[in-house]
Amino acid sequence: MDKLIVEGGQNLSGTVNISGSKNASLPILAAALLTDEPVRISRVPDVSDTNYMLQILSQLGASVERSSGTVRIESPDGISSSASYEQVRKMRASICLLGPMMARMKRCTLPLPGGCVIGDRPVDLHLRAIQALGARVRVKGGNMVIEAPNGLVGTTVDMRGDSGPTVLGTDNLMMAAVLAKGKTVIESAAREPEVVDLANFLNKMGARIEGAGSRTITIHGVEKLHGCEHTVIPDRIEAGTFMVAGTLNVSQGITLNRVCREHMKSISDLLVECGHVVEYNEDGTSVFVKPGERPRSGKILTNPYPGYPTDMQAQMTALFALTPGISVVKDTIFPQRFMHCSELKRMGANIKVDNGTAIITGVEGLSGAPVMASDLRASAALVLAALAAEGTTEIHRLYHIDRGYEMLDDKLELLGAKVKRVPDLEGGPQED
Ligand code: EPU
Repeated sequence: MDKLIVEGGQNLSGTVNISGSKNASLPILAAALLTDEPVRISRVPDVSDTNYMLQILSQLGASVERSSGTVRIESPDGISSSASYEQVRKMRASICLLGPMMARMKRCTLPLPGGCVIGDRPVDLHLRAIQALGARVRVKGGNMVIEAPNGLVGTTVDMRGDSGPTVLGTDNLMMAAVLAKGKTVIESAAREPEVVDLANFLNKMGARIEGAGSRTITIHGVEKLHGCEHTVIPDRIEAGTFMVAGTLNVSQGITLNRVCREHMKSISDLLVECGHVVEYNEDGTSVFVKPGERPRSGKILTNPYPGYPTDMQAQMTALFALTPGISVVKDTIFPQRFMHCSELKRMGANIKVDNGTAIITGVEGLSGAPVMASDLRASAALVLAALAAEGTTEIHRLYHIDRGYEMLDDKLELLGAKVKRVPDLEGGPQED
């Protein structure tokens, strides 16, 4: 286990390249199971979540080759329809194997995902969807045993849950339906760019999917899919995280390359509303970000895309902690996702969390402290706070950040930050 030591208060400037999207890569890698022909996927970020996914695919019997961001996967007939708890417990996103396994093998055994620090994370909508296509679901020994001996048959499925649409649930249904008999219509589909990227990938494999990116997706089942090549979209959450770094009071202005302006709208708009400078180049693939002269507090209500992403609220909370005035962050998607707040308070932030809402009163400065990462985006918030804080911050349990940020330390160093990754022998404060 590593920890990150950050010397706060260094000026940030320069340019970084944004990696391919982790959350687009995961279902796309799983979708490689849908064909026995090789698929080649580029700009897959080298983070532990994509590595877990590739490990699972190879344990199922696929052949996996990876070289500098490009992954080649070939899944011959005879791959296993069952993944073990040991294999999948490290990553909740392994649930997105369900759709491709059901489409290819008409049966699968997958461990039920357990609890998660950011919330309950149920899978009822995934199961409802696969049942609607004709599968039978049983729970046995902690596993979901799902079978459709007569194959899957298209139908209309409403994917709306109490907290709105589900991203991986929409992905799973889309992947299950591409080889189902007849037409499947997904109502209340998630509209996230990662869903669109998956649909584009599947269409390149020969699927017939229309409407991805809107609330209604129509899939005409086909007999067989084939191999293809695909480049994953830029990671909008990594880009957003670096945009926040560019607006911290220690930033002289930073440039991010390989972004997609269209995917960044709610993130960019909020920074502009809070008084910061956000300037895209003409084709929207590069953005310059600088702190405004008079930063203002702000309000976030997380919502499904195109609303403000839950995956960015922790990072903005770190920025709000140093912004004059009172800011309010309400997470409607994961109301318990506020673990970073108690750690930010240890650095001097003034935050009250109540009922899925954080109320942040900006303070003049933060001071470095030993802090504990609790999940991926919470860790990113702590890194951002540490960059702006006075003194040294030690961020323990760095493996959380390694799940989703590619070469974070290298990228921060490129911008002038002083960061050092060292083995964490004690495991940090309050280890449980
Ligand atoms: N939900 C249900 N039942 C289900 C599935 C979801 O009630 O069967 C609820 C969830 O509890 C939540 C809401 O629906 O309240 C939305 O969750 P969603 O299913 O969309 O989340 P997900 O697909 O499991 C993806 C991202 C998350 C991101 C969420 C929301 C991946 C691999 N993960 O998860 O990313 O927070 O969408 O946008 O794409 C992260 O990258 O840090 C991360 C957690």
